[in-house]
Amino acid sequence: MDKLRIVGPCRLEGEIQAAGAKNAALPALAASLLTEETVALSRVPGVQDLRTMRKLLEHLGVESSLSEGVLELRHVVPSELDDAPYDLVKTMRASVLVLGPLVARLGHARVSLPGGCAIGSRPIDQHLAGLEALGAEITLDHGYVTARTRSNRSGGPGRLRGARVRFNSPTVGGTENLLMAATLAEGTTILENCAQEPEIRDLGQLLTKMGAQISGAGESTIEIEGVESLSGARHTILADRIEVGTYLIGAAMTAGRVSVRDAIAADLAPLLEQLTECGCEVEIGDRAVTVARTAELRPRNIVTAPHPGFPTDLQAQYLALMTQATGPSTVCETVFENRFQHVPELRRMGAEIEVDGNVARIKGPVQLTGAKVMATDLRASACLVLAALAAEGESVIDRIYHLDRGYEPMELKLHLLGTERRVERTS
Ligand code: UD1
Repeated sequence: MDKLRIVGPCRLEGEIQAAGAKNAALPALAASLLTEETVALSRVPGVQDLRTMRKLLEHLGVESSLSEGVLELRHVVPSELDDAPYDLVKTMRASVLVLGPLVARLGHARVSLPGGCAIGSRPIDQHLAGLEALGAEITLDHGYVTARTRSNRSGGPGRLRGARVRFNSPTVGGTENLLMAATLAEGTTILENCAQEPEIRDLGQLLTKMGAQISGAGESTIEIEGVESLSGARHTILADRIEVGTYLIGAAMTAGRVSVRDAIAADLAPLLEQLTECGCEVEIGDRAVTVARTAELRPRNIVTAPHPGFPTDLQAQYLALMTQATGPSTVCETVFENRFQHVPELRRMGAEIEVDGNVARIKGPVQLTGAKVMATDLRASACLVLAALAAEGESVIDRIYHLDRGYEPMELKLHLLGTERRVERTS
């Protein structure tokens, strides 16, 4: 099992390129199930979750090939291949994103209930209620969800029907699943109380290029006028605000200076505001966003919330940062339960953090010390890497397969930021 060995303290300094967003690429790949033509995607990040999604799509009859940075996907065998099995789905919750496209296009789908990061129970009840509202019959058995449309007049699978769907609370995957399903439904669908993450806007852009009639993707209400079929399209995946944010927090954490090319400042606003308030210098250029820290770090409390709130996917990294702030701070997690698994590991590195329900109280500043620690989930792993960079001495972070699910090899980007001899992957 791969590990990262980091000898700190290091100072991150330099410029790197933003990867494509994992969370935008995953639904974009799933959208290839909506058409028989080729969907060509650029800037798909080289991360494990995307390899898993490709494998799952292959199983569902999608041929894919990667050449010169463009991933071409073609759903060549749409007939009976509707089954997303447990072995493929268990490692990644986003597998459930094939459900909406499959039932919309084929009239039937059978998908294992998803796994993914162990950060709370993470049900998919809202995905299912939404598909039911669009006329799908949903059954659950042996750990699988089956969705079917009613038969049409000639006895074949009918189309989904447009409807008004209101989410109980914003769900990113739920919004994406319903958005994709509604593109091929008969009539108009109105989705209300949608998640507004930038990745949904990106998916809306891809679907529109494929011929879908959508207005409001990325806003609270989305209206979709269903069409009979979609075509192929070419699309470049937007930059990964979570990856970018992780390296920018790294600059603040190590009193360094990091520029990330192609970062979209507007999508990073909740983080950049905090970093500015903490006393960091934030520079938004035409080509890059830069964060530098030359002074003491001021403590700032955060509460995670759906976009445009502070992203839960940067909570762990921000919490690590607050161990370096001069004074106490709190981090409140409202999106997921059980998302403080990084705290016991940070404590092993000398951090002073108390957790009380969904609030972590951090006492800073402390000089972190290197230790052997264990990655428990994707973003928790990134938090431990940042802590190890700031810590005195050697840290070994075990189980970085979690990290590889969502980050292109981190050691390579960290090397570009001046840590060549201090960060290495070992097995
Ligand atoms: C997506 C992101 C993930 C991010 C999360 C929140 C992808 C591939 N993953 O996950 O990185 O942390 O958004 O920004 O894009 N919920 C329900 N019922 C449902 C659906 C969700 O109760 O049917 C709950 C979840 O348990 C959670 C909250 O709603 O507490 C938000 O989940 P959701 O927005 O759906 O997250 P994901 O799409 O799984």
